[in-house]
Amino acid sequence: MARRRIIAGNWKMNKTPAEAVELCNTLKDLVKNDNVDVVYCVPAIDIVPVVEAVKGTNVKVGAENFYIEDKGAFTGEISAPMLKEAGVEYIIIGHSERRDIFGENDILINAKVKKAFASGLKPILCCGESLALRKAGTYKEWIARQIKWDLDGVTADQVKNLVIAYEPIWAIGTGETATSDQAEEVCKMIREIIGQMYDAATADAVRIQYGGSMNAGNAAELLSKDNIDGGLIGGASLKPDFGQIVNA
Ligand code: PGA
Repeated sequence: MARRRIIAGNWKMNKTPAEAVELCNTLKDLVKNDNVDVVYCVPAIDIVPVVEAVKGTNVKVGAENFYIEDKGAFTGEISAPMLKEAGVEYIIIGHSERRDIFGENDILINAKVKKAFASGLKPILCCGESLALRKAGTYKEWIARQIKWDLDGVTADQVKNLVIAYEPIWAIGTGETATSDQAEEVCKMIREIIGQMYDAATADAVRIQYGGSMNAGNAAELLSKDNIDGGLIGGASLKPDFGQIVNA
């Protein structure tokens, strides 16, 4: 089955609302490609102006975080209904920065995946190992466990619409990219785990991205791999280079 490519920018905590609109305008003609899903995952305060700025283009908007309740006393948080109403389609869940800096664990991440699906948001679920786990040789077990915990109670039909981003933490923002073979090894394993947890059709449908210093120079090679269906891009998503990744 041919899976549709998905190239998502993760803008992280960059760009004020005015800068965000400026970036949308800079990228507008560079990211045109009807064969690829193009997503900008942006800071909460940029969502409304970015949705407006990409109107009429092929770009979809994503959020970088949300909380599992619809409303209430959760100071500082933002809910799925708020994101939906603002025009958000995708939501990054379980990014290593959320896990490591903000203490999100797999129980919360699993609840977020279920809540996102229940709310009509499409999760981009992140997983990946630290350099220590990579060196210890236990990275596959670690990632397998993340996937199993994070998808507990998630149905096959939901997983068919899920995007999983494999992001080795040692490659995020470091300029060090996993080789295409290293990335493919893990993305293939993730697909096999989905096959074991669900069935062959679900494994075939789930889209798996690589993330970690993907750029205009290495994207084509990474994306040529059988089990890599796209990219989650940090640093390079803030530059015109992002257009080259979309069209790699
Ligand atoms: P990077 O970030 O492309 O800057 O390495 C990727 C990510 O954290 O999603």
